[in-house]
Amino acid sequence: MFGLDGPEVLAADSLGLIRGMTDSVAAFDEARAAAEAVELPWPADVITDVAVCGMGGSAIAADLVVGAYRERLRVPVTVVRDYYLPGWIGERTLVVLSSYSGGTEETLTAASQALERNCPAIAITSGGKLGSFYASEGVPVVPVPPGLQPRAAILRMLVPLVVLLHRLELAPSLVPDLEEARSTVASAVSTLGPQVPETANPAKQLARELQRSVPLVWGAELTAPVAVRWKGQFNENAKVPAYASVLPELDHNEIVGFSGMPAPLSELALLVLLRDPRQHRQVQRRFDLTRELVEPHVARVLSIEAEGQGALARMLDLVMLGDYASLYLALLRAVDPGPVEMIERLKQRLAQTGYGRSPDPGA
Ligand code: PA5
Repeated sequence: MFGLDGPEVLAADSLGLIRGMTDSVAAFDEARAAAEAVELPWPADVITDVAVCGMGGSAIAADLVVGAYRERLRVPVTVVRDYYLPGWIGERTLVVLSSYSGGTEETLTAASQALERNCPAIAITSGGKLGSFYASEGVPVVPVPPGLQPRAAILRMLVPLVVLLHRLELAPSLVPDLEEARSTVASAVSTLGPQVPETANPAKQLARELQRSVPLVWGAELTAPVAVRWKGQFNENAKVPAYASVLPELDHNEIVGFSGMPAPLSELALLVLLRDPRQHRQVQRRFDLTRELVEPHVARVLSIEAEGQGALARMLDLVMLGDYASLYLALLRAVDPGPVEMIERLKQRLAQTGYGRSPDPGA
């Protein structure tokens, strides 16, 4: 059996993603300090709503924050994963340009529109055009250290968003949440890290369960964006197909498809339910009842519950578990979790042409 214990197993992780997780608390603290230090040149009462523009690893940070605070946010916060800003975004919309590399074309296109529309804008980035050109145009920058994979910089992209919401008074009492979330991250590193043997390490055990399966990850409310994070981490770190869906919506369509699941897919499908003790009572029932209906059509079902008090802590509890499990799954599959060659190749191909605004079809 392929082992997950011992320093030699980390040799396959050429970019040091697993070792990098050990720095999660430092990443949390540095990100918090950087976001607290950045000067915000507009008064808080100007902001009527927020749009966070980003893609992939830089967008999921925003999904997680919106998911954690959806009941406490005082203004609408939207995540934009597109070239174009929606029409309603205007001079009182805070546009957060979230791009780890600072070179993602969708985010840069949105950035130029935000400037055209005179939106208050701020960037969270390690550099690229966002960190140079847009900074020279007066866009404040929350700096992120370069040299990481965007998805490995999740805390560095996420914590600044929470700090900004707090500083702009767009959601109440976020400081205790941040403190508890930091402890959650510290505890995950000490209980799930590579130094903990598989017999005592839930993330390694989860990776073992997921071997030779196609994970179908379901979330709801606070865990809905976590399901998407797990899916993305299984895709990018472990290089496996994985799918995420959200309750209650999936009860209105997706469940029907399980009855026609082809046998080879049934044998591979491993359903992971991401539960949270504070989910709506009907959502709890939906998890139970939907599981009953679907279980005969999949190979296995795992149910995992978030632990913690505050929303951010409960969320990061699951995010850390999924992140570690996806990295260990890569090792079990004998693949290098770091490089994402498909994404790089696609970006290079796209970069061969300009990505400015397309001609207006109506013009
Ligand atoms: O994980 C990845 O590498 C991607 O999902 C990137 O985050 C995505 O392509 C966007 O790039 P960036 O985060 O640099 O804006």
